[in-house]
Amino acid sequence: MSVTGGSNVNPHLSASKARIKDVFTPARRFRVPKQVRAMGVMPYFRELTRNEGPTCVIEGRDCVMMGSNNYLGLTTDLRVREAAIKALREEGPSLTGSRLLNGTTTGHIALERKIAALHGREDALVFTTGYQANIGILTALGAEGACVVVDWQSHASIQDGARTSKARVDRFQHNDAEDLGRVLAKAAERGEPALVMVDGLYSMEGDIAPLPWISEQCKRHGARLVVDDAHALGVLGPSGRGTEEHFGMHGAADLLCGTFSKSLASIGGWVAGEADVIDWMRFFGRPMVFSASLPPASVAAASAALDIMLAEPWRVARVNENAEYWRRSLGSLGFDTGASASPIVPIIIGDDLKAIMMGKQLLDAGVYVNPVVHPAVPRDMAMLRTSVMASHQRSHLDQALDVVEKVARKLRVI
Ligand SMILES: Cc1ncc(COP(=O)(O)O)c(C=O)c1O
Repeated sequence: MSVTGGSNVNPHLSASKARIKDVFTPARRFRVPKQVRAMGVMPYFRELTRNEGPTCVIEGRDCVMMGSNNYLGLTTDLRVREAAIKALREEGPSLTGSRLLNGTTTGHIALERKIAALHGREDALVFTTGYQANIGILTALGAEGACVVVDWQSHASIQDGARTSKARVDRFQHNDAEDLGRVLAKAAERGEPALVMVDGLYSMEGDIAPLPWISEQCKRHGARLVVDDAHALGVLGPSGRGTEEHFGMHGAADLLCGTFSKSLASIGGWVAGEADVIDWMRFFGRPMVFSASLPPASVAAASAALDIMLAEPWRVARVNENAEYWRRSLGSLGFDTGASASPIVPIIIGDDLKAIMMGKQLLDAGVYVNPVVHPAVPRDMAMLRTSVMASHQRSHLDQALDVVEKVARKLRVI
């Protein structure tokens, strides 16, 4: 199934590409959101009145939050909040400039050292978002004459970075190391140096990249490997260091990257690796040069959250225990949770409208989940993306399970 990858082109735009005379035409023809709003079931852009980690208030209704990437529950941690407040007070809300010029502070440099040390790499670089980090990595390294190879289900930021680069772009079947080998063999035949980029932990289905096999293929074909640990940081490996730690394969990736916007309760992207390569990205990773730098409060929050993650490994254990409980309970109720092996647990529904209806009825009954429908997934593969946090109590999960079961029975999903 292609969740975040190849299918995420705008079908309305591409279908009408040849015929339109006005670039506004596809937007004016795009009726679906208006129809869905009129039916009162629009699942996206819901108004969050209060966000208190495992619980929240959405459009005036108290809900259990089962659709957030706050895996370690640190957005509500007072130490993280105080660090952000102090930085805001002392350094202001914005640096009003890019990292290259006036936007690099003592805090950015300290955070980069922390990230490099966390992963045992020579150097690291902090971007304003994880999306930008991936655009930066791939535009800096995807030179003309090279080949960027990505998993079909890799995140949109990886797909977009690959397209933005000057390299040839090839894709391999999801988590299929043999197919990767075939694609890399072809690149080698053409004499193109290859860069493979994969998600460590896939954001929709919650399955893990088979690093041992992917790394072996990269070594065999002389390709460089980048692993995006956006969702893996704080979740995989006993200390939460991510995919390499999960497989006991420190150093398997040539570059590691990720975001502060999930387990680390902030916003911002990062990449870590060999000093020369990181320095190259300082100058040629385009968002580093042409977009304003991460604000001090976000730097401080990420840094505080990282310290807490390392000092309190029980959080990593707890989120995984909660995941195990949630996944097992859904399975025993008869739900299909796909290939999930992490705190991201999809409930596969199939039909788009049914997934939207179920999301709405869950919300009405006090449980927030994320409906994911075509074209983000292929037709008949609509799902409710759920995710757990270290700060969910058993009572939150049981309350949500009870509601999910009732609504699913009513809609004949189980
Ligand atoms: C694998 C992956 N990479 C990158 C990103 C982008 O991160 P950010 O939210 O920091 O832009 C995401 C966000 O969902 C992601 O899932």
